Amino acid sequence: MRRTRLFFFALCACLLVGTQVRAIEMLPTFGDIDHIHLPALLVQHADGDQSLQLRAQDTTYIDNAQYQEMVIATKDMVQPFYVTIHVRQWKSVPITETWYEISHSEKKPVRLQRFDSGYLPLDNGDLYLVHLHGNWAAEGVPTVERLTRGVKTIRNSDGARNAHLDAPEVMISLDGVPQENSGRVLGAALCWSGNFEIRVAATDEKGFHFYAGIDPMASEYILSPKQVFTTPHLAYTYSDEGMGGVSRAFHRWARTCGMLHNGNATRNILLNSWEGIYFDITEERILAMMNDIAAFGGELFVMDDGWFGGKYQRNSDDAALGDWVVDTRKLPNGLKALTDAAKDRHIKFGIWIEPEATNTLSELYEQHPEWVLQERGRELKLGRGGTQLVLDMTNPKVQDFVFSIVDNLLTKHPEIAYIKWDANASIQNYGSPYLPRDKQSNLYVDYHLGLIKTLERIRAKYPNVVIQNCASGGGRANYGLMPYFDEFWVSDNNDALQRVYIQWGTSYFFPSNAMAQHIGGSPYLMTGRTTPIKFRCDVAMSGRLGMELQPAHMTDEERAQCTVAFADYKALRELIQLGNLYRLVSPFSEASPFSNQQSPAVQQVASLMYVNDAKDHAVLFAYGLTSFMKQASRRIRLAGLDPNRTYTLHEKNIRVAYHHDRNAWGEGEPCELDGKSFTGEYLMSVGLDIPLSTEYNIDYPSRIFELIVP
Ligand code: GLA
Repeated sequence: MRRTRLFFFALCACLLVGTQVRAIEMLPTFGDIDHIHLPALLVQHADGDQSLQLRAQDTTYIDNAQYQEMVIATKDMVQPFYVTIHVRQWKSVPITETWYEISHSEKKPVRLQRFDSGYLPLDNGDLYLVHLHGNWAAEGVPTVERLTRGVKTIRNSDGARNAHLDAPEVMISLDGVPQENSGRVLGAALCWSGNFEIRVAATDEKGFHFYAGIDPMASEYILSPKQVFTTPHLAYTYSDEGMGGVSRAFHRWARTCGMLHNGNATRNILLNSWEGIYFDITEERILAMMNDIAAFGGELFVMDDGWFGGKYQRNSDDAALGDWVVDTRKLPNGLKALTDAAKDRHIKFGIWIEPEATNTLSELYEQHPEWVLQERGRELKLGRGGTQLVLDMTNPKVQDFVFSIVDNLLTKHPEIAYIKWDANASIQNYGSPYLPRDKQSNLYVDYHLGLIKTLERIRAKYPNVVIQNCASGGGRANYGLMPYFDEFWVSDNNDALQRVYIQWGTSYFFPSNAMAQHIGGSPYLMTGRTTPIKFRCDVAMSGRLGMELQPAHMTDEERAQCTVAFADYKALRELIQLGNLYRLVSPFSEASPFSNQQSPAVQQVASLMYVNDAKDHAVLFAYGLTSFMKQASRRIRLAGLDPNRTYTLHEKNIRVAYHHDRNAWGEGEPCELDGKSFTGEYLMSVGLDIPLSTEYNIDYPSRIFELIVP
């Protein structure tokens, strides 16, 4: 941590040797750089001049309980153009943030043609880049590659969401192939929800140059005189504990520095209606689902898509977005009957909305066709359901409307404790009826500034409602929006096997109390894969546990297992949701179903654990990913423990057994490790041979252990 701080402040100090020092060390600008650098800032002044030579004018420091911040005011040598450079170093977490405030008093608007959030020079070495690539239903696949000469660019052009395909967070290993718990690794996250571009350039033999910011493609920002443009923050960390150290720093920063709403709080166990009943909502079905989640010991029920609509009904994905009135044909007694029923069952109630969208088949669109993004004189490009459109969040009237959706719901039904905020469309129509013609290129940026402004209003009035960030799954898992949300839906893919992989990659940057993980049905509807209920529970239990299936279709065994899982999870919740994550054996590390190199000889496993700050309480998860007869087991070495302490293992969520005497499912037998004690040193150097053998369960075996210092 100290090393990081020194590093960044040394960088800043370069600027302080006299007031005429070039700002290039922190902010390479076009017109002031040599041929080696790419610019982080490129502008065209009102008179057509494209050069920028910033010189430090004044430096101030902020020092409070949470952070130290250096604020360097700079000005161009010729034009009345100003950039204030901010460098904030958090005290409790090894995270540094940089961002720039850009303004001018030129006679006419200035065109910002590139406006990154930060720049960092890196020495030569065997550098490896780690970034998450994925897709809908297959998020968070870590992609690891050696950095070579030339420019490596990662970008996302979805417009509205930026974490499907390529995501705005990266790690750079400075010591070759990155390791999980050793080696020097730099982590960076651009705190932005729109299009971004991250570049690592090695344009000469001297070193590498890292840049990250808003993608300037189709996004030249037209900045009026006196207007201040603040770039998104870019957060860095540095760790000599490998990728795990980087992850833990981001997790702690998210939880303790306001980057995740209510970051230090634990989350409830819920049932979401979507994969259980889809659009087929009726009061009877909802009440039955509430009964079920309450019976399992769950704490919250969330009614997903399909509850709203007036003239147009929401029976599929092609209508009614925007018409946020209860469909009384489905719910004759309104939401009140549901919130009352939740109260009777001692659970909370939550509801789904997709506020930034509408359908051509909606009363909203009929009344306000000017509220959707559209290209003048061109045919509308339609999204989901063949009718979906994105609202123009640059328009203050649309922002008011979006605010009112949440405000109306929560004013009329203050019992609503949870909102799932979805976003299922990209920006396909590149035009804002609200923005003036000469500022159309501000759209990609102003959309997100409008969204953030609206979310800020919502949070100011409703700080306590839990809001889930969903964008067709994990499409908006980013630190631009996370401060307004309590959690995010990791993926629409609930297949427990693939979830091991998706959750693994997602945990590189995001903490477990933000990661919504649900027990799905089996065979799973998207993949057809059949997985045992224990495996499904154990996979979901490593983050924010929930359930998404039709409980009415569950077997007695499944019900019994879920009841055990919920009770055990409650006892471990604080540790799982707020503990320090150590990833032990990666599903990606060797032969994996993704790399097509399965070997029947050695079982492939994935394993991770959480440890509390005092290192006297931990929980270990182990999943068998391949199962063949007579397969060699895989020893798992633990991490993050105190080598000098002795830990006793207690198996959790033990697989239920059928009790013939009682004709019922009940408690099962723990494995032989249950009750055994080992020193931390033994567990971390020798490791455990966890019974995930084929005799236990031929497909998808898994175990959870609690570790306690007696
Ligand atoms: C998106 C979400 C799902 C579900 C549906 C409802 O796809 O990711 O979880 O809410 O919308 O239409």
